[in-house]
Amino acid sequence: MEEKKYKKYTVTAALPYANGPLHIGHIAGAYLPADIYVRFLRESGRDVAFICGSDEHGAAITIKAQKEGVTPKQVIDKFHKINKETFEEFGIDFSIYHRTSAPIHHETAQDFFKVLNEKKKFTIDESEQYYDQEANQFLADRYIVGECPKCGNESAYGDQCEKCGSSLVPTDLINPKSTITGSAPILKKTKHWYLPLNDHEEWVNDWITKGELDGKYHHNPKEWKKHVLGQCKSWIDGGLQPRPMTRDLEWGVKVPLEGADGKVLYVWLDAPIGYISATKEWAKEAGKNWEDYWKNEDTKLVHFIGKDNIVFHCIIFPIILKSYGDGFLLPNNIPANEFLNLEGNKLSTSRNWAVWVHEYLNDFPGKQDELRYVLNSNAPENKDSEFTWKDYQAKVNNELVAILGNFVNRAIVLTNKYFNGDVPVRGELAEYDKEIINKIAEVPEKVEKLIENYRFKEAQFEVMNLARIGNKYLADTEPWKLIKEDPEIVKTILNIALQLTANLGVLLTPFLPKTAKKIQYMVGLRNPKWNKAGRVDLLYPYDKLGIPELLFSKIEDSQIEYQIKKLEKAKVASNVPAEPVKEPTTFDDFTQMDIRVGTILHAEKVPKTKKLLKLQVDTGVDKRTIVSGIAEFFKPEEIIGLQVCVLANLEPRKIKGINSEGMILMAEDRDGSLSFIAPRKKVTNGGVVR
Ligand code: 2FM
Ligand code: ZN
Repeated sequence: MEEKKYKKYTVTAALPYANGPLHIGHIAGAYLPADIYVRFLRESGRDVAFICGSDEHGAAITIKAQKEGVTPKQVIDKFHKINKETFEEFGIDFSIYHRTSAPIHHETAQDFFKVLNEKKKFTIDESEQYYDQEANQFLADRYIVGECPKCGNESAYGDQCEKCGSSLVPTDLINPKSTITGSAPILKKTKHWYLPLNDHEEWVNDWITKGELDGKYHHNPKEWKKHVLGQCKSWIDGGLQPRPMTRDLEWGVKVPLEGADGKVLYVWLDAPIGYISATKEWAKEAGKNWEDYWKNEDTKLVHFIGKDNIVFHCIIFPIILKSYGDGFLLPNNIPANEFLNLEGNKLSTSRNWAVWVHEYLNDFPGKQDELRYVLNSNAPENKDSEFTWKDYQAKVNNELVAILGNFVNRAIVLTNKYFNGDVPVRGELAEYDKEIINKIAEVPEKVEKLIENYRFKEAQFEVMNLARIGNKYLADTEPWKLIKEDPEIVKTILNIALQLTANLGVLLTPFLPKTAKKIQYMVGLRNPKWNKAGRVDLLYPYDKLGIPELLFSKIEDSQIEYQIKKLEKAKVASNVPAEPVKEPTTFDDFTQMDIRVGTILHAEKVPKTKKLLKLQVDTGVDKRTIVSGIAEFFKPEEIIGLQVCVLANLEPRKIKGINSEGMILMAEDRDGSLSFIAPRKKVTNGGVVR
């Protein structure tokens, strides 16, 4: 079958939950491969919508908010901003980074729900579900934990066991417990809208395994990754089940029907629709028609995700799209990556076992491309892979510095030295020169094929190989030894070396965009065109080179040691035993302490101190000043308005000249970090803690 010529591309990257910062596992799993693919498509003149944004609903958000004693909105606003900026700085070049709290998203998701409901694509069922009587809340998904019936993991969630990957429903769990209060839940009746995945088994199977849709060719399943097909097949073979598409929660997209108060859409119904609402928003701003990117058969839809998202993108979302009808496309491919591990262990946000991208950018300013290079070299394209700091250092120093940086630098420095920075004329070619020229000519097609098949690691290798060839060419021909006796040959050699450099400036664009720009500038390539790559006339004789600068610098041992120490600290923190319990105290002594709920009205740093904040607190009884040693963990503006617990009858004392009247109660984690002790729901100031 001949490859279809697509007119447009809609490329999506999984919407990350706005409940925490991004780590290298997220980047290696979805965002870097998506960005490489899109940059390649754009370079080769294709019309692409590259869609991403924050996933702002679901238990991921509300549980984080409850943990921190803040509102879900505070959580999503904070991390939406951080993640959007991190992506930008790291060079992931989305057409739009949208958010699912946007009104256009709520409208779009509600429209999907209404249409599916009107078309009778749901079944409505009343059933018994777990309910936490203390918290007055139904417990779905991450609100419930228990033992996994398949592998015995004791902290499996109500929707999934993270250990064995099984998909679960809360009633599968053995010894279920509420994650809100820790109590054992009761069963209570509630009504929900279910998507009967089982009704769709046949066409889903034909579509995924044969690439046929409605009896017509849709895609070539051989182009799908084996592990993606494998996961899909095992789902289908296991028999698809109806899945509830609504939840009894406050936070989310409201179910747009009468009599559905207190119910929201399941986050995995609304999140992928987020790709569509984001496209609508982008199209509005860019003067495009969003439907061209979602409903036109000449458009190729590709979802980049991590392997934990496969079932949602390969089975559930396609069923939603097809049930809605109206010409919505199904994805042509879902090139999910497997997982990246870190220094021998699974990346873990809760255990702080991660390299956080915003911290990396801080610790290694300007070294975006270095991390892109290493992550793509080790990408978990078909199996789990590993990031280690030593390997990072080796790849930067031995490959980027010693091969790419060294070659480009030599070609330019020698041209400056011998020919005053003008591109020299290429004279008669020796056999060896011809070989190099032939090699340059072969690379673009190889790289294109690999990228189109989602093999970005090998594609990058091919481009780097060109730098290797260039390095060897200069080492073998030794122009510095020939310059005196035969400057004409040196002109030819350097012309070829510079043409090769210019080719690198073009071909590196999808992988190392900043470096590619620098190279283009340094060789004076003003109009880089992907479709001219492979040729040796990208530069004309007498073209002026730009000002040379070093592309990469060595990563020192001390930098790597610092990073490894940072990780070790995280490991120690999660292994530190709990402090032993103190000597017994009396109940009277305890009741002697007057602990009240109060609200922080104002906060500012105490000048010339690292740890102290001066707080104004409304204790319900009075408004008073308290000095608290929490400045390392909280910014003043973040904590204004928070409810906290105050030891109100502590004798006042002077701290840095300020009269401090009381103490804010904090919980200390094993790594020394602090968290406020706060009531779970709002309590009138002055409320007594007993
Ligand atoms: O796994 C996650 O982080 C999800 N927030 C991904 C959602 S992808 C899409 F459906 F929005
Ligand atoms: Zn399990």
